[in-house]
Amino acid sequence: MLIDGKAIAASIRSKVADEVSSLDYVPGLAVVLVGDDPASNIYVRNKTKFAQEVGIDSYLHYLPAGSTVNEVLEEVWSLNADPTIHGILVQLPLRGLDAQKVIEAIDPKKDVDGFHPLNAGRMMIGLPGLRPCTPVGCIKLIKTVQQDLTGMNALVIGASNIVGKPMAQLLLAENCTVMHAHIHTKNLPILARQADIIVVAAGVPGLVQQDWVKPGAIVIDVGINRVEGNIVGDVDPAVQKVAGAMTPVPGGVGPMTIACLLENTVHAAKNS
Ligand code: GUN
Repeated sequence: MLIDGKAIAASIRSKVADEVSSLDYVPGLAVVLVGDDPASNIYVRNKTKFAQEVGIDSYLHYLPAGSTVNEVLEEVWSLNADPTIHGILVQLPLRGLDAQKVIEAIDPKKDVDGFHPLNAGRMMIGLPGLRPCTPVGCIKLIKTVQQDLTGMNALVIGASNIVGKPMAQLLLAENCTVMHAHIHTKNLPILARQADIIVVAAGVPGLVQQDWVKPGAIVIDVGINRVEGNIVGDVDPAVQKVAGAMTPVPGGVGPMTIACLLENTVHAAKNS
C-alpha cells in the first residue's frame, strides 16, 4: 500500500485553514532565504504559497548570496521584534555561514522549524514545544497505518539534526524500540530486517532494498534525490512488493513537511 502524503497533507492544511479563520488576527510567517540555491528557492516558494492558501500572511525575506552572518542575524532580530510575525524559518543549508548561530538567534517561541536547542531539549524530555516539521509529518503518516506504535521496532537511517535525530526522539516518545543507523553503521541490512518501521533520511538514492525489509513493515522515505532529471527517494521502489505500507517520492513526506510547518505557525501564533 502506498501512503498518500499529498492527500493527508491537504486534509491537514484544510484543518489549519479552519483554525486560522477562527482567530481574530492573522498569523504571520517569515521565511528567510539566503542566496540562490535552486532547490531552496523552490522549497521556500512552496512554503509561502501554501501559507497564503490557508490564510497565514507569509513573507519571503531574501538576502543575496555572499551576505554575512551578521546580516542574517540582523534580519532574524528584526523579525523576533516584529509582533505581526509569529513564525520564523531560515531555510537551510546556509552555505558558508554558521547556521547554528542563526538558529540560536531565533526566538524559541517563533522557531516554527523546531531547530532551536531549547525546543530540541524540550522535545527530548517530553515537554511541549515546537517540533521539527519533517519528523512530525513522518509520525503522522505512520499513524495513518498504525495508531499505537508501542513496542514496535523502529529503525531510523540518517542522523541529521533536521530529520534523523528528532525522528528517533519522536519514535521513542511513541514507545518504539529505536535503532539509529548512520554513516558508520555496520550491517545495516541486518538491522533493517528487524524493523517494523523504517524511516530513511540518508540522501542515498535507492539505499533501502527489497531484501532489507521485513514483510509488512511500514517504510517512510524522506529522501529527495535528483537522478538523471528525476526525483527519487532513498528507498528502491521494489520495496513496495514487501512493505505493508510505504510512502512514494514525490508525494509522500514532502507535502507533510509544509503542512506541519503551517500547524506549527498557528501553534506559535496562539502561544504568542
Ligand atoms: N532544509 C531542508 N529541510 C529544511 C527544513 O525543514 N527547514 C529549513 N529551515 N530548512 C530546511
